[in-house]
Amino acid sequence: MMDKEVNIARAIASLDTSLFRYIESQTTDDDKYSLLAVQRAVRQKAEYVYLEIGSHLGGTLQPHLLDPRCTTIYSIDPRPLIVDDERGEKQKYFDNSTERMMRLLSAVAPDQVQKIRTIDKAAPEIDPQTIDPRADLCFIDGEHTNTAAIADFEFCIKVLAPDGAIIFHDSDLVYKGIRQLLARLRKSDTKHFPLKLGGSVFAIAFGGSPLASATYIRSISKSIHYHFLRSAVRLRLNRHKIKRKLKKRSS
Ligand SMILES: C[S@@+](CC[C@H](N)C(=O)[O-])C[C@H]1O[C@@H](n2cnc3c(N)ncnc32)[C@H](O)[C@@H]1O
Repeated sequence: MMDKEVNIARAIASLDTSLFRYIESQTTDDDKYSLLAVQRAVRQKAEYVYLEIGSHLGGTLQPHLLDPRCTTIYSIDPRPLIVDDERGEKQKYFDNSTERMMRLLSAVAPDQVQKIRTIDKAAPEIDPQTIDPRADLCFIDGEHTNTAAIADFEFCIKVLAPDGAIIFHDSDLVYKGIRQLLARLRKSDTKHFPLKLGGSVFAIAFGGSPLASATYIRSISKSIHYHFLRSAVRLRLNRHKIKRKLKKRSS
């Protein structure tokens, strides 16, 4: 192995978040730590394919771009300038373009950018047959509404390689969608392992995914998934209660 490859392998193995240093990402340090733990598990395969829904500047693509074991990257993003989220807020993405992202990524690893395939569409508009090779790891970080998270997951399932994994960012916003998806998977008897990781990362590993057996993944798993999903519900209820109390007081 060349020195560069050894250094990248070491950085991923030690969950070194400086791998995200070149391009700004919409993630916290805890998120980055979790994302690297997932990458460390997935790269146990000699080669893997990464698919991302919602890339903006390419911040979360960086560690996969740098990783020589990642042979293909799909970046799916219809590039809207304003996006809804589950809080009812409008997120603005200035100068949100594939050209800008590719310029930034080209400066990070000019010898690796050819492995990126960009698709300027929302996932449900894409023919799953065009995703060849299939993805070993899908990351959902597009529109943060339950409806979009479910639609993105449904697309990912169609293009996922056997023993693949799907991860969500901002799981605290789309937990209701995740809960629905987990209920469906249980009902259809699909072998899966839900994992709540640090930050707002939530993973669902399928079949014999290396994520399901990685002990360090379990060790950074903040709480068992159903505790997260339940406490998220409780949090919501509390918020409603507080709002009601405040309303009563002001009336
Ligand atoms: C939070 S940013 C992604 C940040 C990126 N993953 C990072 O941390 O570096 C969300 C991105 O989702 C994109 N987006 C909005 N709606 C989308 C949709 N329906 N499908 C895919 N991407 C979408 C936006 O254009 C924006 O670039």
